[in-house]
Amino acid sequence: IKNIGVLTSGGDSPGMNAAIRAVVRASIYYDIEVTGVVRGYEGLINKDFIAMDRKSVANIIQRGGTILKTARSEAFRTVEGRKKAYDNMKEEGIDALVVIGGDGTFTGANVFSSEFDFPIVGLPGTIDNDLAGTDFTIGYDSALNTVVDAVDRIRDTAESHDRLFIVEVMGRDSGLIALRSGIGVGAEAIMIPEANMNTNDILHKLEHSRKDKASKIIIVAEGDDTGGAFKVGEILQEKYPHYDTKVSILGHIQRGGKPTCMDRVLASRLGVAAVEGLIKGERGAMAGLVNKEIIFTPFNHAIKHINAEQVSSTWVKLIDILSF
Ligand code: F6P
Repeated sequence: IKNIGVLTSGGDSPGMNAAIRAVVRASIYYDIEVTGVVRGYEGLINKDFIAMDRKSVANIIQRGGTILKTARSEAFRTVEGRKKAYDNMKEEGIDALVVIGGDGTFTGANVFSSEFDFPIVGLPGTIDNDLAGTDFTIGYDSALNTVVDAVDRIRDTAESHDRLFIVEVMGRDSGLIALRSGIGVGAEAIMIPEANMNTNDILHKLEHSRKDKASKIIIVAEGDDTGGAFKVGEILQEKYPHYDTKVSILGHIQRGGKPTCMDRVLASRLGVAAVEGLIKGERGAMAGLVNKEIIFTPFNHAIKHINAEQVSSTWVKLIDILSF
């Protein structure tokens, strides 16, 4: 391998910069050139390339977002788009690629790998943690800490006013942010796409949660079937009128900000592993950390959502026990 392209794609996540830095530094360490691709797959198609050196990734490990920018590319979904991307890389002398992103990114990489003989390794960069083949994705820990910090503040005011707060967190298809942050903030209940809980179940939980606690917090994942925090708030206010109900949607603040040390280290380890993997012949796979070991999981397995098994009733029960 002579020249590795690196790109970030899909929703950004804190730690993506640390991952780019690790890919660039590891490539240079192994005497390989690195090309930064701007705006994910869009950059491959538009030939938006920049040569990277040690200095171009200096002082970014602590920064949120991605210096390479990101996009969700429609053009890469087309055969012509992918062919253009391949031709542009060939022309530029890029002979391997590291893609940093989530399931959309790996779905694209998987299709591309089936069409062209081109080595690609992925790094899990998403706040959602919804990939198989890694215990944690880069950005999940940072997003969780942002949520916990925000909800702790909400708890203060909720407690002062004896209020019920419905807090919506990100996760269009996955409740993993809601689940873990819910435990972290001592939520009374959580609503996630995987658990199929309706507002009657929530009412039941509220009635059985600690009576001496002035405030109640329900964490709702964006993708929950009920229809979002405002809908849940409306229903609960009606059925639970003795509580003053408020709704708060945390939104994109969850995607920004400094990565935690956990995310920086994870991104650094996986970034180096991606380059070393490519050198050893890995392709069509995502580098992840499972039980402290680096493993490579084929893209089509990585994109199988973590679901019922991980987001099992054991976790939901944990919340019940702790808020009893
Ligand atoms: O996949 C990451 C994520 O933040 C999801 O949790 C969320 O549903 C989605 O991206 C939002 O995407 P966008 O910023 O494009 O609206």
